[in-house]
Amino acid sequence: MDLIETLRTTGAVRDFHPDPVPDEVLHRILDTARFAPNGGNRQAWRVITVADPDLRRGLRDLYLPGWYDYLAMGAAGLTPWAPVTDRDAETRAVKAAPAIAAAAAEGPGGFAEHLDEVPALLVVLADLRRLAAVDRDLPRYTLVGGASIYPFVWSLLLAARAEGLAGVMTTMVVRQEAGVKALLDIPEHVAVAAVVALGRPVHQPTRLRREPVEAFTTVDRLDGPSLRVGE
Ligand SMILES: Cc1cc2nc3c(=O)[nH]c(=O)nc-3n(C[C@H](O)[C@H](O)[C@H](O)COP(=O)(O)O)c2cc1C
Repeated sequence: MDLIETLRTTGAVRDFHPDPVPDEVLHRILDTARFAPNGGNRQAWRVITVADPDLRRGLRDLYLPGWYDYLAMGAAGLTPWAPVTDRDAETRAVKAAPAIAAAAAEGPGGFAEHLDEVPALLVVLADLRRLAAVDRDLPRYTLVGGASIYPFVWSLLLAARAEGLAGVMTTMVVRQEAGVKALLDIPEHVAVAAVVALGRPVHQPTRLRREPVEAFTTVDRLDGPSLRVGE
């Protein structure tokens, strides 16, 4: 596929045909993803491919609480877990989560409730001893460390697409990191970054909704004029 076209059309996929993803294919995908950029080339990523059904169900159970909180906060018009937010509004919003969970339990369930059934489940970790987190000491929420892991995840998703596969990066289980670490024997110095679901897509979304460049790019100052061309 054309690179630009691929970058513009690789949407999140959560519905898969049931055929498994052979380890050989997973290996090929990871073999490409490992060329992702990362701070100091320390390659802090670690990956666990989770095949055991009990472990998969364990991961699903750790995913669900975050998912229902996410839905509750979204329904209240909040950006879930934004580092800068109205914490009181958040506390009020998540009170609706148990009702959302109960309603979901009555229905057929979606991606979250069936997470254990996706063809391939990859837990992506970060070795904190290898993460060049230059904003570590700033008096604000840190985000640079993740930038050494998530490009790897994105490369993984792009490499999967080249194999006729698709998927989604998820982070809900990070709300329950201690549980994930206990489940998968992950030591203290290793953090949980994401769970990636992969498989053969029922449908590959290609018309993605994103803001135009002018909405997020300005000249010289954050409140400067939007970067515009061709006017
Ligand atoms: C850091 C990050 C965390 C995400 N976490 C989840 C998640 O926990 N569950 C999920 O279903 N999708 C998750 N997503 C997928 C986003 O929902 C998706 O990228 C976004 O809605 C855009 O979807 P689109 O590319 O299909 O337009 C996550 C994506 C990113 C980049």
